[in-house]
Amino acid sequence: MKVKVDPERCQGHTLCAMAAPDVFELSDIDGHASAVSESVSAEHEEKVREAAHSCPEQAISLF
Ligand code: F3S
Repeated sequence: MKVKVDPERCQGHTLCAMAAPDVFELSDIDGHASAVSESVSAEHEEKVREAAHSCPEQAISLF
């Protein structure tokens, strides 16, 4: 599975980083999230799905 955060949609709600702290990092500059790596390991998939569902801006795409 792969993951991407749309920087246009992200408003810095931080729920993704709370759900999957190993996968998402928050910018010190604007607080917006990005994926540490586009590829998600099997052990993190469930938490990344949770993160995608929890994002109020629907900024997280899984593919
Ligand atoms: Fe951004 Fe959504 Fe995470 S708004 S910080 S991608 S919960």
